[in-house]
Amino acid sequence: MAAPVRSSAVASPRNRLRTWADEARVLAALLRGQPRHGSLAERLDAFYRPQAGQYDRFRERLLHGRRELIARLQVPAGGHLVELGAGTGRNLLFFVELDRAEPDRAEQGRDEQGRDEQGRDELGRDELGRDELGAGEGSRAETGQGGERLAAMGRIDLVDLCPALLAEARRRTAGMANVRVIEADACTYRPDTPVDCVYFAYALTMIPDWRGAIDNALAMLRPGGQLGVVDFYVSAADPPAGLVRHDRFTRWFWPRWFAHDGVHPGPGPLAWLRECLPVHELQEHRAPVPYLPGLRVPYYLFVGRKPQSSRISGGI
Ligand SMILES: C[S@@+](CC[C@H](N)C(=O)[O-])C[C@H]1O[C@@H](n2cnc3c(N)ncnc32)[C@H](O)[C@@H]1O
Repeated sequence: MAAPVRSSAVASPRNRLRTWADEARVLAALLRGQPRHGSLAERLDAFYRPQAGQYDRFRERLLHGRRELIARLQVPAGGHLVELGAGTGRNLLFFVELDRAEPDRAEQGRDEQGRDEQGRDELGRDELGRDELGAGEGSRAETGQGGERLAAMGRIDLVDLCPALLAEARRRTAGMANVRVIEADACTYRPDTPVDCVYFAYALTMIPDWRGAIDNALAMLRPGGQLGVVDFYVSAADPPAGLVRHDRFTRWFWPRWFAHDGVHPGPGPLAWLRECLPVHELQEHRAPVPYLPGLRVPYYLFVGRKPQSSRISGGI
């Protein structure tokens, strides 16, 4: 049966204008690209600050597979979860969505403004812009309407180098006592005790020392813990047997298309992940990109377990 459409379904001209203005702001930031000078933190902040408020909405159409990654993460009750390169903390909302009894509901029954029956948009925000995590009293995470997995975790660290995006993450998670929003480098941040699960969502391609970031994630992970990654990539010209081989155009085009914004898809991170974590699940996909009709960017989803006896030393 078709889901009911709310009577406020027709977007007002003012809302349409606001949506276009938001979109234009993000596009302008993408066209300007990431500055070439300054520290990594300064470059990230200069790139993201003008689009921080609109970041999530645009990335819903660009950063595919994040919900599927979150669905695969297993954090025990009382456990410790870390996202490295967490941005606005948007990925925590996927836990809330996945907790709901009707998992497809978030995609169904939306009106023209993308709002569901309760008037929430695709980021779970109500008409006043409050989302389901940090709205405090009455938020889903607190009322048990989704959010049970998050509420059961002992500690969640959202780590990023970009102050403008972290401000959004702080606002979003203000009602959650077990969440820490931490301004730090993914290559060096180290919690004081081993953690159960670490993940990167579209962060490794923006981290120049991606190998250092992976090594650091593995070092903070307890033996048997999970490392999850979803990200853009292109294959090597001659990838290992069983992996997808991208054609010459794909291998040429995507690294050049994204480089302007400081995003560098290549074969390296996936190869290193496979080598470090022989026990893993890997999926290779392609997905559409806004404003590039007919083209599909490759991305992978990787979830591995740190071996029980590991030569990767934690140092914690
Ligand atoms: C494409 S965004 C993805 C954000 C978030 N994971 C998501 O799925 O929406 C990449 C993020 O990586 C962060 N980042 C880049 N280099 C970093 C580093 N060395 N340490 C921590 N975060 C970093 C950026 O600031 C940005 O928030």
